[in-house]
Amino acid sequence: MSDQPEVELEARLKEQAEFEPPESFVEQANVTDEGIYDEFEENWPDAWERAAELLDWESEWDQVLDDSNEPFYEWFVDGKLNASANCLDRHLDDRADEAAIEWIGELGETRTYTYEQLHREVNEFAAALRDQGVEEDDVVTMYMPMVPELPIAMLACARIGAPHSVVFAGFSADALAERMNSASSDLLVTCDGYYRRGEPLDHLEKARDGLGSVDGDVDTVIVDRLGDERSVDHNADEFDYDELVEANSGATVEPVVRDAEDMLFLMYTSGTTGKPKGVKHSTGGYLSYAAWTSQAVLDVKPDDNYWCSADIGWITGHSYIVYGPLALGTTSVMYEGTPDYPDKDRMWEIVDEYDVTQLYTAPTAIRAFMKWGSEYPAQHDLSSLRLLGTVGEPINPRAWKWYYKHIGNEECPVVDTWWQTETGGMMVTTIPAIGNMKPGSAGPPLPGISADIVDTNGDPVEAGRAGYLIVNKPWPGMLRTLYKNDERFIDEYWDEYSIPERDQWVYFPEDGAKIDDDGYITVLGRVDDVLNVSGHRLGTMEIESAIVGVEGVAEAAVVGGDHEMKGEAVYAYVITEDGQEESEAFHDEIIAAVEDAIGPIARPESVIFTPELPKTRSGKIMRRLLEDIANGEELGNTSTLRNPDVVHDIQKKVNQG
Ligand code: WTA
Repeated sequence: MSDQPEVELEARLKEQAEFEPPESFVEQANVTDEGIYDEFEENWPDAWERAAELLDWESEWDQVLDDSNEPFYEWFVDGKLNASANCLDRHLDDRADEAAIEWIGELGETRTYTYEQLHREVNEFAAALRDQGVEEDDVVTMYMPMVPELPIAMLACARIGAPHSVVFAGFSADALAERMNSASSDLLVTCDGYYRRGEPLDHLEKARDGLGSVDGDVDTVIVDRLGDERSVDHNADEFDYDELVEANSGATVEPVVRDAEDMLFLMYTSGTTGKPKGVKHSTGGYLSYAAWTSQAVLDVKPDDNYWCSADIGWITGHSYIVYGPLALGTTSVMYEGTPDYPDKDRMWEIVDEYDVTQLYTAPTAIRAFMKWGSEYPAQHDLSSLRLLGTVGEPINPRAWKWYYKHIGNEECPVVDTWWQTETGGMMVTTIPAIGNMKPGSAGPPLPGISADIVDTNGDPVEAGRAGYLIVNKPWPGMLRTLYKNDERFIDEYWDEYSIPERDQWVYFPEDGAKIDDDGYITVLGRVDDVLNVSGHRLGTMEIESAIVGVEGVAEAAVVGGDHEMKGEAVYAYVITEDGQEESEAFHDEIIAAVEDAIGPIARPESVIFTPELPKTRSGKIMRRLLEDIANGEELGNTSTLRNPDVVHDIQKKVNQG
């Protein structure tokens, strides 16, 4: 730690708008040649072979990109490979006894899976899945917290060519059922429960509850996480994970040869409508992209103890806990619990104990660390850290600098990585040994990624002005379609935003952004009806439809209000039906309905009863005004409203709290 007085350092950090990559980092980094940007530009799309070459292929591709059927782009055409073989088998010669996964349970128990052990259990569970009747291309759903059996089940699916669909364990029973029905999935892998703040939580009840609403017969595999804490009586269609694995002890399953374009997995995410979108990712392009970005941006090397603190139930965990790091043969640290249990130094204790080399986390977590205070990281030796990363939402410069200083000791580059479920991997960020860091700004698009900021006509906006972020060339990790819904894929990602005069395909991520003269992009946040609550992506329409499902509710509008810790919080404005009392019980019923439909992460911060919603003369709800009210801001012009008075009534109600 620097011995300069705190104040002086703080002042310097405040002044410093740009930080150079630390020399000690540059000396050893995977990617150091600035020429890589030109190389990708001049040799596009063939330069992308560099990513594919990080993998082992059963047979090589004939063509890097087939763009003849846009927007259904194909990458590494006719290449054949298996993702589980790439994450496991090929490391056995050199790294059989090295740790693939270091798992840390919330109660402090630990498990290490070497590559050999992980390979063995993945084979055994793959054999078990086959026994259960799972065939190539059947979608297997996983509804599990952060237990090692989750990545094992994912890799077992990949091994037999069965795409997985992981549903975040914090989602509700209804959310699980909706996703299983949408994917026509008839096998579920789940677990009895898990620990939160030392307490066992029942998870199976929620899973069983959800299955009640799933069409068709579903078999369930149950992982025993709670041991004696909870004994489970299995129904006829429920199977114990350990028994299945044991019954297949020593089994080997040949990795199924998959086409580069075959689906590796499906991940549901929120969009503008009430129905989650099933984002389909490919085997060859996705895995190449996850591996390449892990290597270039996270600087992953086989000997690292790399830690991404996301949940595998979200895309960040898929790409940067499981596929990217394991494809590169490194050690991926996986933590079950919360960052402040048993105490607020838990993360730093883990970094210290495991000599963590890279930490990839979210701004919402960093804001919490800041609030708890720098004395917690200061209790531990964090000198093993070489690189820090963030993802999920914009990071404000203050939080960035705190992270840089108190966690990275000003010796670790911070990569602020912008990307999405749909992009499969990082898109906009500095390459840590090349680009200077500008706190608050993610950085330039990665080599080979072509992004711009445009106005509503699709014309580039001036540097420094806000506009819409677009990506105008395909990339290997991009989603291939929305599962069994090409039409919606075209509607959402092609028709509306492409610029027909230019006959150019444009991917519109629904984020606002600005670009500086030097090409650095600052992402400002979503421009659609999607909220970002603690880095979790939630659709306002999904929340609204849960609320209007409550008897006595006539209409609802959900918006995001600023929140110090969560980034955004859910504000629900509700109009009741005539005669419905606005009681506390009714208020609680609304909250419960949201938790039932989506999960506790979508729980409204505030439910505001109002006789009317502010609407334009054409009947559109003025969400911007509702946001301003939630944020206690001055309201702009309300004269275009059909019912301007209502705004002040609502404001009064909110202020009365
Ligand atoms: C937001 C998570 C600013 C953005 C990987 C995007 C970010 C949405 C950043 C995707 C960042 C992600 N800076 N905003 N570095 N990273 N976002 O699909 O609004 O869960 O559209 O993927 O998160 O969320 P998703």
